[in-house]
Amino acid sequence: MKLNNILKYGLVLAIPAMSLVSCVSSGDNQGWEFAPQMYVSDAYEPFSQEEGFTGYNPNNMTMRLPVNGTVARGQVGYIYPYANTGEGYEASASYTSSMLATQSNVAEGKRLYDINCSHCHGKSGKNDGAIFKSKKMPGPSWKGLTSDYFKNLPDGKVYHVITHGKGLMGPHAAFLSPEERWKVIHHLRKLSLGDAFEFDPEQETSLGADGSDANGENGTNMDGANGSSNNGAGANFPGTNEERQLVLNAMSKVMFKVLPNRKELKASSFVGLDELAKLLVSNSDWKAVVVGRTGTTVTEDGAENLSQERANTVVNYLVSKGVDSGNLVAKAGGDDTHTGENMTSEGRQSNRRVEIEIYK
Ligand code: HEC
Repeated sequence: MKLNNILKYGLVLAIPAMSLVSCVSSGDNQGWEFAPQMYVSDAYEPFSQEEGFTGYNPNNMTMRLPVNGTVARGQVGYIYPYANTGEGYEASASYTSSMLATQSNVAEGKRLYDINCSHCHGKSGKNDGAIFKSKKMPGPSWKGLTSDYFKNLPDGKVYHVITHGKGLMGPHAAFLSPEERWKVIHHLRKLSLGDAFEFDPEQETSLGADGSDANGENGTNMDGANGSSNNGAGANFPGTNEERQLVLNAMSKVMFKVLPNRKELKASSFVGLDELAKLLVSNSDWKAVVVGRTGTTVTEDGAENLSQERANTVVNYLVSKGVDSGNLVAKAGGDDTHTGENMTSEGRQSNRRVEIEIYK
């Protein structure tokens, strides 16, 4: 063969042979890269590391560390101030939330509890879940959620234990968002108190979008959706319709804590009451009667007592916001005049709060 031909055929054969081999990456050979910009972006990839800029990218990270003290969007709820220490646990007792114990929140809490907690603590919270029963792990020393131990355990501590764990119970922060932890806590209280548990009313439904009372236009029903009372604000209310709505709104937001602090206001009550206080301060000739209400299941200290104390709590709060105490009266409503159905938990929630009558 002539040299020319060897070159010619050699080339013809070599090109396909090379193209088969050269692009194939294997083992340590990354193959040939054509147009590497297609693989390695000129712009910095957030999760990659770029060497050589150590002056401003610590550990060669492209992603910046968040500025100290800043919180990423949507993560505010994840800031939990108490450390996983004995002191942190004690301090957590005062930690609270404005998450309402509505029917739907409690139902969601049950779903989450059944998934995350029931295999140890048992579906009804008797510490008789499969794991404790099988003795694979010793259960807690307290006898379940109806025990005095749990009844006296502040919500904040329960939140702390769900977040950080305690003893043999592991942390559950990775499984439950902060909101979900509070929903589970409401469900625990429901399991603990049974029928004595008081649901919070669902919020959206208490007033119509146009500001009219959800129960119609007659203007006599003070209590919107839960229909528990007829009283003075409708007929003799001295202010404008707008001001009347403000009072209704404040009333619908008044909520009390669960055992053992049933006469203490939940934080979610304050915004409405602050507005009401402003209204009463600027109309110093108005008088307000605050009537406390409870359900009939309250027996240990008597419904009468608790409803008076609840009314006092609201009056004291209004006074602390500058309302003249001479214009305020706190009255026990007992449970005699309610119109709500008291046989069901839903009915009981409508009888539990305060009514506020305003006149001149
Ligand atoms: C693997 C079993 C297990 C699971 C799952 C579990 N726990 Fe526990 N839990 C325990 C044990 C054990 C203790 C006792 C810890 C101690 O006091 O040392 C405990 C204690 C508690 C306490 C009492 C805390 C205190 O301050 O004394 C509460 C409340 C509680 N758990 C709620 C929950 C909730 C809510 C969930 C679900 C999100 C859950 N637990 C999931 C095992 C478990």
